[in-house]
Amino acid sequence: MSIFDASPKTSVKLLVGRQYELLDVVRSVIEHRITVVLGPRRIGKTSLVKVALSVLSGNERLEGLRLKARFIPIYVDMWSIIAITRSSRHFFEYLDNIVLRALEEYDKGVAEDYRKHTRMIKESIVKEGGIDAIARVSGRKGIMYRYSSEAARCLDELNTVLAKHGRKAVLAIDEAQELGTLKPFSPTAWLAHIHDNLTQIHVLLSGSYVGLLKRVLHPRQRDPLYGRDINRIRVGKLDPSSLLTILLKGLAERGIQPSSEFSETLMRIVGLLIDAELAQHIPLSSRALHESRDRVQAIWRSLVELHNKARRLSSTTPFKSIPQEILNTMLEYLMQFIILIETPLLHSLLVYYAANLIMEIGFNLNTFSLMLPEERIEQIKPFIDFLANPGAKALAILSLFTLSGSPSLVISLAKKLPNNFTEEDLLRIGLQVLDESYRAVCDEVNRFIESYSKKPEIITTILYSLYTSPRTWSSIAQILTQQGIDKKSVNENLRTLVELGYIAKYKEGVNTYYYITDPLLFYALKEKCIKTKT
Ligand SMILES: Nc1ncnc2c1ncn2[C@@H]1O[C@H](COP(=O)(O)OP(=O)(O)OP(=O)(O)O)[C@@H](O)[C@H]1O
Ligand SMILES: [Mg+2]
Repeated sequence: MSIFDASPKTSVKLLVGRQYELLDVVRSVIEHRITVVLGPRRIGKTSLVKVALSVLSGNERLEGLRLKARFIPIYVDMWSIIAITRSSRHFFEYLDNIVLRALEEYDKGVAEDYRKHTRMIKESIVKEGGIDAIARVSGRKGIMYRYSSEAARCLDELNTVLAKHGRKAVLAIDEAQELGTLKPFSPTAWLAHIHDNLTQIHVLLSGSYVGLLKRVLHPRQRDPLYGRDINRIRVGKLDPSSLLTILLKGLAERGIQPSSEFSETLMRIVGLLIDAELAQHIPLSSRALHESRDRVQAIWRSLVELHNKARRLSSTTPFKSIPQEILNTMLEYLMQFIILIETPLLHSLLVYYAANLIMEIGFNLNTFSLMLPEERIEQIKPFIDFLANPGAKALAILSLFTLSGSPSLVISLAKKLPNNFTEEDLLRIGLQVLDESYRAVCDEVNRFIESYSKKPEIITTILYSLYTSPRTWSSIAQILTQQGIDKKSVNENLRTLVELGYIAKYKEGVNTYYYITDPLLFYALKEKCIKTKT
């Protein structure tokens, strides 16, 4: 399989980056009854899930993980089902087939038993005249009677057989939000049933927050899943260095040896990202988050340790006699700590600046400068110089792509660049890729807006208000309260947008700033394909 393959990756070897997320998903499936993997479109969710299944099934090993028991992987792609049918009866028949196929591949003994079991049930139903007949006798036309009962019970049967053989299975349902479109069907009740009764089956859901997953993740008291063991994992952007690896690997596969200028440009971008401590610390991906969380914790521990040491020393000797070396180390840790906390600001600056250069949308550097302390302006100056040079647009394209967090965007770019490409090619093809890809984001945002019954215009107002520059919470709230929206709704909507990964926030002084994180969303807003209330 090549890096260019548009289908999801299936093996650990092919997955670039994502080690932490992978370990998270695998561990979560082992430890929890239901795991939900959430993330924006085209970010690599399916790849992550498929590779996790490969590890859980024992096909591949993962460093740092000891798998006590192998899981039988059952993978269901809801899109391939709803492409054909939205009938829950057909869904269960399909599921029954997938289960059987997986069992045959991973455990012949279980497969044989499963077949026996399901056949037995069929016979007993035929003998009793079947559930349809019962429905007819009782004279009720309830929803449940229209199921093909033997297929609808396939997981119950699977659970019995697995228990008998002392085995477990992982049921992975991709694009799980589509479960909500099956009729007649209650996905949350079904999941609650699996959770409570089918203990040999662990569930791994992936897909978009919109629709079903919201009710799975935040069940209200009266929802079937309330109080259940559900663990969520967010798949964020892929980190810049993994994206650059993909870009270079992709070009190498095509036999393209990037020119020395291009390599230099790449090095400069990486260098700049690293210089500003962006690559390691900005919360671009959960990997970066992991790293920064670990680092924050490590730094914090060292600080406490040093502090204690200093206190011990100062109790016996005057404070000023604390060795300079300890004070220096403390200061250095403190600085790092501060940098870790503030870097989202630099990230937002880079995204907005690059988006501005490429898409010529209004960008107000003063908004940024006003927010920045003197020394920060010094720190970001290299970015600004960098983006102001003649090849700036091409460089900005590369920055945007590496900050997009989307492997598929970078793959499309690497696929289309001509041999011996120039900076103009980079700009032209880059814009073309953005132009081809932004519709997925439009669809997703619009679908979200549609499904969001309470005042969807709040969402569009927020997004359009953030188009030209980041904004403080109070300035967003001001716009919305003028439209009669209460503050509670403002907060709810902002939280949801952050959760979806469209926007992010950072604190600067007493203010909380919100900003757009996704280059495709800039493009979508520029093209005005995000619906506004008409
Ligand atoms: N970590 C990775 N390393 C290399 N390639 C990747 C990685 N993650 C994803 N890809 C590639 O990116 C593309 C999109 O990945 P994938 O289909 O897994 O994303 P997705 O989030 O499931 O997308 P969708 O929202 O369309 O379902 C595929 O070509 C896949 O091979
Ligand atoms: Mg997918």
